[in-house]
Amino acid sequence: QSVAVLGAPFSRGQKRRGVEHGPKFIRDAGLIERLSGLDCTVHDFGDLSFHRLEKDEPYMDVKFPRTVGAANKMLSGAVSRAVGAGHTLVMLGGDHSLAIGSVSGHAEQCPDLCLIWVDAHADVNTPETSPSGNLHGQPVAFMLKELQDKMPDIPGFSWTKPVLSSRDLVYIGLRDVDPGEHHILKNLGIQYFTMRDIDRLGIQRVMEVTFDHLLARKQRPIHLSFDIDAFDPSLAPATGTPVNGGLTYREGIYITEEIHNTGLLSAMDLVEVNPVLGVNREAVEATASLAVDVIASSLGQTREGAHVSIDEIP
Ligand code: ARG
Ligand code: MN
Ligand code: MN
Ligand code: MN
Repeated sequence: QSVAVLGAPFSRGQKRRGVEHGPKFIRDAGLIERLSGLDCTVHDFGDLSFHRLEKDEPYMDVKFPRTVGAANKMLSGAVSRAVGAGHTLVMLGGDHSLAIGSVSGHAEQCPDLCLIWVDAHADVNTPETSPSGNLHGQPVAFMLKELQDKMPDIPGFSWTKPVLSSRDLVYIGLRDVDPGEHHILKNLGIQYFTMRDIDRLGIQRVMEVTFDHLLARKQRPIHLSFDIDAFDPSLAPATGTPVNGGLTYREGIYITEEIHNTGLLSAMDLVEVNPVLGVNREAVEATASLAVDVIASSLGQTREGAHVSIDEIP
């Protein structure tokens, strides 16, 4: 298995500076070394460099539309090339608006992909329902075919097209859903598991139903979009929009182990690590190191351990 790591140092999908340093801190926490220890070849594609736009007035209430649109267009091309070359793609954010480009580039190569969105938030606001105007709270709205009549022509986004149906998506970890988002989730019948659902069912059952929902009819490539704020803030404090009552370490790692075990993971995002927001160095390092654990576990690191069987040794 060949893994491509691509950094996306970008923060204009929300208002707090610092999340653009996520890729550096995740790398400094030992990502490449950890992945090299698994049975995969690692290609570090470095970080994209995004251009600054001088003038980028809000559109409706949407902040930095052209900047976010252009960054995602560039990311989409890079992801498409990496997946097309046969790599499993790991995108390091950056804020969650980057999923627009990441999923779109992935879908260009794998039109039948499905999406697992692990997050405290649903990130499915439209410009009209968004309480903040921040695009990191809206990426899923760009992807869903069923929402296109609700999406205005936002400057910077003329290149996008919806690549998913509502039945191709499952959320895990929700606990801060805006009223407009709740309406969309219910109205479109999207499969989601809130933290309350995880409390009731247990994470094992949640993953069973997730795979049933997405893969029962046919096996297809998986895109995992993992927002570090899905974890409890005690584990992942260095993030922009923390919400109490999140995933435990074991629930988070169980999710990624099970995704690895499907053998279908084709691309993933790890977003919203903001090193500027940790109260001290320990808080930042804990968050970055958790991000590395999530990625390594998605790519085959196991808690049970592993060995090469003697007849596989040449
Ligand atoms: N729902 C809120 C909004 O639309 C918060 C979104 C937080 N998103 C994130 N990727 N952390 O602004
Ligand atoms: Mn979130
Ligand atoms: Mn998010
Ligand atoms: Mn493996």
